[in-house]
Amino acid sequence: MANRCLATMCGAMTDASLPRLDELFKAEPDRLSKLSFEAAGIYFDWSKTHLDRSVLGDFAKRAEERGFSAARDALFAGEVVNPSEGRAATHMAERGSGSPRDVDLATARRQRMRALVDAIEAGAFGAVTGILHIGIGGSVLGPHLLVDALGRRASALNVRFLSNIDGAAFDDVVRTLDPATTIVVVASKTFTTLETLTNMEAARAWLREAGVDDPDGRLIAVTAKPEAALDQGIDETRILQFGEGVGGRYSLWSSVGLSAAFALGWDAFEGLLEGAAEMDRHFRFSDTVENIPLIAAFADRLYAEQVGCQTRGLFAYDERLRLLPFYLQQLEMESNGKSVTTDGKAVGKPTAPVTWGGTGTDAQHAVFQLLHQGTVLMPVEFVAVRESDDAQDPEHHRMLLLNAFAQGAALMRGRQSDDPQRSYPGNRPSATILLDRLDARSLGALIAFYEHRTFANAVLLGINPFDQFGVELGKEIARQLAEGSDEEILDASTRALIERAGL
Ligand code: F6P
Repeated sequence: MANRCLATMCGAMTDASLPRLDELFKAEPDRLSKLSFEAAGIYFDWSKTHLDRSVLGDFAKRAEERGFSAARDALFAGEVVNPSEGRAATHMAERGSGSPRDVDLATARRQRMRALVDAIEAGAFGAVTGILHIGIGGSVLGPHLLVDALGRRASALNVRFLSNIDGAAFDDVVRTLDPATTIVVVASKTFTTLETLTNMEAARAWLREAGVDDPDGRLIAVTAKPEAALDQGIDETRILQFGEGVGGRYSLWSSVGLSAAFALGWDAFEGLLEGAAEMDRHFRFSDTVENIPLIAAFADRLYAEQVGCQTRGLFAYDERLRLLPFYLQQLEMESNGKSVTTDGKAVGKPTAPVTWGGTGTDAQHAVFQLLHQGTVLMPVEFVAVRESDDAQDPEHHRMLLLNAFAQGAALMRGRQSDDPQRSYPGNRPSATILLDRLDARSLGALIAFYEHRTFANAVLLGINPFDQFGVELGKEIARQLAEGSDEEILDASTRALIERAGL
């Protein structure tokens, strides 16, 4: 299949006009070995996608033309790769992979974080049975994913995550916590986020009303703006700083991971960083044709740009990874949901598709009808884990994995029937990512893979994945409305809604 032939169908691709995947398997006997890869204990299979030698060759050429190697070097060297904000992206330094200067700084900050974890364990906060982690977006999604994935049996601690400004969320979360023995971790890069500051005040009131001595003494702030946390009345001994170059959605490796490090144990947190560093090395030193995050980005570009797919479905066939789609929604859509290039010109191509998904097998009984027979063609990604953990019944686990693999096979193969209602067109692409086991190390590597894939997509598009100006306007208008100003600039519809809600 020539890339050219896909390109001419852009936006109007039907199932029938795509080359048949089963034909590609026949035409390329080494297809599986060419399109399956392994790194850091994770197996990646893109053979059931429409990538082939010619498509890969074309994208490799584009990567070269876009200066992929130089862009990657700049990222790892701690150069400014976020020009709109004049910053480097230093999240890899948190796991030891950046420039020596950034790594030293991150290491010093991590030592402070560790000292705090040790102090809590040694009783500096009295008996601790629970953690209330307050934050939103990148300040909560990562730690929540880690604790949900790895803390199910590892931790006796009750760790709860609060993000929404909705008071119902606050009530739900604190209901199961004992204020006398709970530590409140407030994570916010800017320490100005409305939701987080509102929830922090609610937590203070909750501690006060429960008669806790010195409620402020139970608050820990994690931020890139320590002076803003000081202004909010948090003592400097309980403020953990992380670097400005660490973007919110890339921050779980930093002290934003405090709640997870405390709940899972320091060794697990170190394991997470080591796994991510292993994926960093793979991404940094592998050639184009073997570079797993880059090849994933080629598949993303193929379906978004040349087939016109506007979404990518991600299904975790493991309950422990049920939050992965939510985490990746922010990582991918906030990073690459842009319309202009780094120098402000229209991109002229579709950028990030909508990332959505759920867990298997639940999703099979809800949304998979559309995947198999609907008119929308979308690439699907299955993430599964080979080994079950001790708590998972092996037979359940076997059925879970077989279901994941069966779905990929069915999507590709399809089945013809004389009855059109019972026909499956097949030829629907899927990728499979299979972890040997789920532990801190492999989860770190998996998340780092997605970070690098996001970066690789941005390089191929020429966009900046590290800013997020798109989220500002709505926040600004909400702030103005909360302050009661500028209502006169509002449209009739919004004004009527405000009046109707009695605000
Ligand atoms: O509104 C989007 C955003 O800025 C994200 O990028 C960020 O992760 C989140 O809000 C929370 O911001 P902060 O950590 O500064 O509270």
